Amino acid sequence: MNKTLLSMLALVAAVATVAPAAAQDAKPGDQKAGEIKASMCIGCHNIPGYQASFPEIYKVPKIAGQNAKYIVASLNAYKKGERKHPSMRAIATTLSDQDMADIAAYYEQLEKGPAAPAAPAECRPHL
Ligand code: HEC
Repeated sequence: MNKTLLSMLALVAAVATVAPAAAQDAKPGDQKAGEIKASMCIGCHNIPGYQASFPEIYKVPKIAGQNAKYIVASLNAYKKGERKHPSMRAIATTLSDQDMADIAAYYEQLEKGPAAPAAPAECRPHL
């Protein structure tokens, strides 16, 4: 475990402590609320249109533009332990159903805006 990851998890824990734990009846995802809650995901899943903020550490799947149901299902799978990635599990267990719905609604609409910039030439395969 590196320092960046540790401080990231500490931050997530802090956010989770402050957030109200109202979970039961999740309303349809609220993009605005999701945008704020997604601040704890940006460090790894990063800004819209990009795949990873720390490609030198590991590859993180792109979730911007993903279907909201898929995002919620993935988060629940981490929460229940069906998917085992340690940092995603740590994060998913702090999220209520409402948090997941909001975050998923936010990420789903992200890529409907202007297209992501094309990869720079040096990243394309050499022909
Ligand atoms: C510490 C870095 C980190 C943070 C913070 C983080 N993620 Fe992840 N996330 C990952 C990694 C790494 C994976 C790939 C794990 C795997 O292989 O299962 C992943 C996978 C996912 C997936 C599954 C994607 C797929 O295509 O299957 C979803 C959805 C997801 N994260 C959502 C979130 C959300 C929402 C947040 C914020 C609440 C978040 N993540 C915060 C690192 C992170």
